[in-house]
Amino acid sequence: MQAVKITDKVYWVGAIDWNIRDFHGYSTKKGTTYNAFLVLGEKPTLIDTVKKEFYGEMMARIKSVIDPKKIQIIISNHSEMDHSGALPQAVAEIEPKEVYVSAMGMKDITAQFHQNLNLKVVKTGDKIEVGGDTISFVEARMLHWPDSMFSYLEKEDVLFTNDVFGMHYATSKLFDDENEERLWLYEAEKYYANIVLPYSDIVLRFLDQVTKMGLSPKIIAPDHGFIWRKDPSKIVKLYAKWAAQAPKNKAVVLYDSMWGSTEKMAVQIAEGLRQGGTEVKQLSMHSCHRSDVATELLDSSALIIGSPVLNSGIFPAMADVLCYLKGLRKKGLVGAAFGSYGWNGAPVDELTKMLEGMGVQVVAPAVKSLFVPDETVLASCRELGLTISKEVAKKLQ
Ligand code: FEO
Repeated sequence: MQAVKITDKVYWVGAIDWNIRDFHGYSTKKGTTYNAFLVLGEKPTLIDTVKKEFYGEMMARIKSVIDPKKIQIIISNHSEMDHSGALPQAVAEIEPKEVYVSAMGMKDITAQFHQNLNLKVVKTGDKIEVGGDTISFVEARMLHWPDSMFSYLEKEDVLFTNDVFGMHYATSKLFDDENEERLWLYEAEKYYANIVLPYSDIVLRFLDQVTKMGLSPKIIAPDHGFIWRKDPSKIVKLYAKWAAQAPKNKAVVLYDSMWGSTEKMAVQIAEGLRQGGTEVKQLSMHSCHRSDVATELLDSSALIIGSPVLNSGIFPAMADVLCYLKGLRKKGLVGAAFGSYGWNGAPVDELTKMLEGMGVQVVAPAVKSLFVPDETVLASCRELGLTISKEVAKKLQ
């Protein structure tokens, strides 16, 4: 295992997880990387670690450039286990003089490992000398955890941003200029939609703050995906765009079906939207993963949800995805509900309440079908699509 040189002083010493396909409920079809970084100098410094299962890979890469015992400082920018999981082992083997964390990082890591890791708290504006260079800290609270922190290596002009600006994308090509945009753009967008979206207001404020600080690093090094060295502003601009959640003429029709009736309704709603001039994604929970639904919703202006009734409730797959989407707090959506039922249509109305609970502006009553939809019901579905399309058009004015 070899480290990968980023600058004369900075090396990538992380791990590539080619096989992970479920990242706490997020479908990672292309795997991921856990990036850790080694800063050489008089006080060699390790920035972040990896998921504990990959400790051996990280240490092997470190050993390819330095005796790990020479590392004097470890910085833990984020206490989620994919980055801090190997911290106790690293501290035990390396025996660094200091381990720097944010105040919330101290609380989190203490509660996770219940052992003395010699942690020291730093806050925004604090600086440490690392031998010929300086690392300054910027707390990035709620990007995406309360403890999240950035570290900036001043002379080398490298900003270590932890999860922010990352993506779940396993690659042996670790730099932006080695990867074709068509292969990574969806993964970057999916990562934003599933990890960062709830904190979009904070992203916008933070980007503004960073601009005012005059911070425009030559290299941005996140803890997942690749390192932005050719054009770091590219991912920053994408974050600004995704965080703004500007309305687009696009709708998602999301549903599950039991015997095909709710699907027949979905098809006609999608057709109404299409006839109204709105781009539509018709997503069945039979074939879609919740994290791909979230990605399609990121640039949509409408969410229309449908479910059949099962045991006096909505379908489990719909309950799953709606619970997930509620947590992601997508803004600016209009929507409505629909569904087929046998003898109790009330659960379809529950869908409308769920939309309201998600902050969606409901613009029409639910369309319900007693068993199989007839032509009258199907016409109502097309009309619902047209209505939603008009409401989306209003948002775009
Ligand atoms: Fe990649 Fe929040 O952990």
